[in-house]
Amino acid sequence: ETRIHVSFALPGPAADELAASGLLVTAYTEQTGQPRESLLADAAGASGLITLLSDRVDAELLDAAGASLKVVANFAVGYDNVDVAAATERGVIVTNTPGVLDEATADLAMALLLDLSRRVSEADRFLRTGAEWRWEPDLFLGLDVSAGATLGIVGLGRIGMAVATRAAAFGMRIVATGSRASSPEAAALGVRPVSFEELLAESDAISIHCPLTPATRHLFGPAQFAAMKPGALLVNTARGPIVDELALLEALEDGRLGGAALDVFEWEPHVTPGLLTLPNVVAVPHIGSAGGATRANMGLLAVRNAVAVVGGGQALTPVG
Ligand code: GLV
Ligand code: GLV
Repeated sequence: ETRIHVSFALPGPAADELAASGLLVTAYTEQTGQPRESLLADAAGASGLITLLSDRVDAELLDAAGASLKVVANFAVGYDNVDVAAATERGVIVTNTPGVLDEATADLAMALLLDLSRRVSEADRFLRTGAEWRWEPDLFLGLDVSAGATLGIVGLGRIGMAVATRAAAFGMRIVATGSRASSPEAAALGVRPVSFEELLAESDAISIHCPLTPATRHLFGPAQFAAMKPGALLVNTARGPIVDELALLEALEDGRLGGAALDVFEWEPHVTPGLLTLPNVVAVPHIGSAGGATRANMGLLAVRNAVAVVGGGQALTPVG
């Protein structure tokens, strides 16, 4: 019987829609990610898999599923966890969830940028730990984002454009690299397309929005931190391994960078411990797309992709 396996608890509306498809569904619904052995076992004989970014979709998993497998619908826009070449070789379609999470992710990037600029989390900790507080002219001075600070957007695509819209509304200057940096829509927001080197040199804050690929792994390392403005801020809501995390820690400890706000980490769920003891680091656990409606829409898109392909139709949002 045609079956779709889901490696996690889908948001309600998506679970309902999948149930209504009439396909047989199995799901791993513990709050933790599905353990590997259990995922390999449940994949066997499935026609579709709906997976999380923490599931490694490689030749081993594809072979465990076997010849019945037609589609892997990743519940994320990023699909660096999927070996697309291995899937393609086996005739398996891979889909992701582009578009539906742009605004939520851009909101978080902006929240992190403002938090870091104005030292919100740091000041919050100051109060909570009972430090003696007076109103002082130089207490918690930060970056005046709205006084024309320059934001560098690395990888201006869908999410980057949503960040540019927000940053423009805050009066920031914007420079960007990436596929849409030279588009009329970007120009309308005042975005200036620049080389990566120019972006590093000119930005007061940099926000990363490119996918993780072999070309972007460790795009930020010691040389890039050295090329950034002294005291510049780094925001990463894309993928952890785009940044060399140990080099970042060193650049922060050196005082070379002014601070970092991180939604993603190189070795998730592990966070390099030194980062969490620095006052000028804001760290959250990969919550970029964690809006209620956004997660529901990601689930619906993943389900619709899986159901369409299993039923012999076209994927809505295939990758590649
Ligand atoms: C989340 O990180 C995603 O790629 O959707
Ligand atoms: C700040 O609180 C001010 O009143 O200027």
